[in-house]
Amino acid sequence: MIDKHAVGQRIAALRRELGYSQARFAEKLNVTTQAVSKWETGLSLPDVETLLNISWMAKISINEILDGEVFPVQSGLDRGLARISRHLICPACGKALHVCVPIRQEKPRFVCENGHGYNVVDGVLDFGVRETEGELWSLFLKNYEQYLEEQRHLGNPRYWQGAPNFRELMWQALERLQPRTILDMACGTGSGMKYMIERIHWPVTILFVDLSHRILKWNRKYFTDEWKNPYVDLVCLACDGAKLPLANESIDLVFSNGGFESMQVKMRDGFREAYRVLKPGAHALYNMSAIEDWNGENSRKWIRLLQELDGFDRFFGQGNLQDIQTWLTFCGQTGFRKNDARKVYGELPAPEQDVFPFQNEVLQWMAEYVVLSEK
Ligand SMILES: C[S@@+](CC[C@H](N)C(=O)[O-])C[C@H]1O[C@@H](n2cnc3c(N)ncnc32)[C@H](O)[C@@H]1O
Ligand SMILES: [Zn+2]
Repeated sequence: MIDKHAVGQRIAALRRELGYSQARFAEKLNVTTQAVSKWETGLSLPDVETLLNISWMAKISINEILDGEVFPVQSGLDRGLARISRHLICPACGKALHVCVPIRQEKPRFVCENGHGYNVVDGVLDFGVRETEGELWSLFLKNYEQYLEEQRHLGNPRYWQGAPNFRELMWQALERLQPRTILDMACGTGSGMKYMIERIHWPVTILFVDLSHRILKWNRKYFTDEWKNPYVDLVCLACDGAKLPLANESIDLVFSNGGFESMQVKMRDGFREAYRVLKPGAHALYNMSAIEDWNGENSRKWIRLLQELDGFDRFFGQGNLQDIQTWLTFCGQTGFRKNDARKVYGELPAPEQDVFPFQNEVLQWMAEYVVLSEK
């Protein structure tokens, strides 16, 4: 017989450890406050699904909740990395990666049968890639304080335009799909994913992918300390998004907030990689900037001003300057069966003067779409 009273006490203790009031805990679990109160006083037990969610959030087994028995877990990895490790492949040779469980002081390490090895450094699995030109995070962000400064930045007001704005639109799709494994392509500081992490109410593993080890190291700290959601396990992979260290068909959803464009000349390679790692029937959910009308006066003026910028070729060289139709055609060629684009806002009116008006965020004049591509 299950001792409801003891279960209730354990649940109450777990709830306090998570820092939730009964009301907030109830909200997270999508049950009523009375239900929580009844469990905690031993009058009833949570249903199976809810038990699973509590066990996930508190990072303990259902056994432990129900009868207080603790099963030993091994491996020096955190839960997210341990779960994802069976899908990891070596970016150099494509063979499976195996974890070397750390002995004493050693750090966890992943190796393939050809002897290529990768370390977990500051909680980030490091594939030894370099940051990209124009996004040298380790140059701009010397310490965590500066990183927090960047996080407090509200971002370009344009990105909140449209009703609903693109983040909300992406959230609606995400909530409908409730994927268990999400890969955030070229995540940067995770400003897109931040909106989702605040709202997610189901167990999920999020893989942050970026070239920059520096940004991932601090994302990890930020999304564990400051912006935490106990439903979310984070895995940080410092790797090239155009050569993901993941097996085919291992991911439920690829998310990206402006990430494909950020990959610059590798944009299309990155998108093909996204397709490769997605399970059949799974989705890519991302926003995409696009030209409104090649022949229109407004678009033409913008393009002319843009072409005079330094670094134009690096950024726009390989077809990154495109209209949405061109992109959707490419999605189809990549193999995605259904590609649904929704316009969030249109192109800004071109400026009177003859200089490009934006220093950073050179894409902000373009029209914006949220795209859902199904494999
Ligand atoms: C400004 S962020 C994009 C916005 C970000 N997704 C967000 O929501 O805040 C651009 C990121 O793309 C990363 N990046 C550029 N090329 C990449 C590549 N080939 N693979 C992975 N990340 C890449 C950069 O390191 C940078 O952190
Ligand atoms: Zn290898």
